[in-house]
Amino acid sequence: MIQLAVNIDHIATLREARGGVEPDPVAAAAIAELSGAIGIVCHLREDRRHVNDRDLRLLRETVKTKLDLEMAATPEVIAIAIDTLPDLVTFVPEKREELTTEGGLDVAKNLHHYTEVVAKMHQNDIAVSFFIEPARDQINAASTAGAEIIELHTGIYANARTTKEQTDELKRLREASEYAASLGLKVTAGHGLNYTNVQQICTIPEMEEISIGHAIISRAAFVGLETAVRDMVRLLEVYSR
Ligand code: PXP
Repeated sequence: MIQLAVNIDHIATLREARGGVEPDPVAAAAIAELSGAIGIVCHLREDRRHVNDRDLRLLRETVKTKLDLEMAATPEVIAIAIDTLPDLVTFVPEKREELTTEGGLDVAKNLHHYTEVVAKMHQNDIAVSFFIEPARDQINAASTAGAEIIELHTGIYANARTTKEQTDELKRLREASEYAASLGLKVTAGHGLNYTNVQQICTIPEMEEISIGHAIISRAAFVGLETAVRDMVRLLEVYSR
């Protein structure tokens, strides 16, 4: 069965809308775990627009499943990761002006740099995932750099305007998953997944885990976080049978 990691960034986005202390992403993480999430994901951005250093510190103390820190491979955040020791880091591209992560990381272009960074993480017993496009050159680069996990970018699939576009991208995701698994990589996916489009992703045999934020936090505003997480866990159970 495909497992669910919940990204709690947008609980922090809501808090930052008023600059106060509520709602607390640390409390959200606990509720998500109690509701069936097997991991908690947060992205410590350079501009700290949602999750901040205090959140990360407390999440590290309180998350009992698996803490996945999404980050750019910059010296500042690398130092924070080594200090905090999440279970896993996911390297993502980061642009200040973007609303959310746009597209996968170009690991192939910066292979030397990422190989060094992966080694640094492994020296500290932190597992490494790369958020990449479903393309062979990027999968090869992630594997060569030493990562044990890849997270395939599902944004193009999720934002497809036509059925053909969506079917074509699903095929790319399917082929990429098969290829990555043949190299011994754990395959996960995320970005733009929701209660509807997740169904097709569940038909990919090599897919082990997905990471969802916005759709779950949006539903939580109406039905509560516990129900929103449980609804998704249940769908994954049904669809990946
Ligand atoms: N995976 C990665 C690498 C991301 O950057 C994001 C967005 O923060 C997600 C998954 C979750 O995307 P969404 O919020 O669209 O579910």
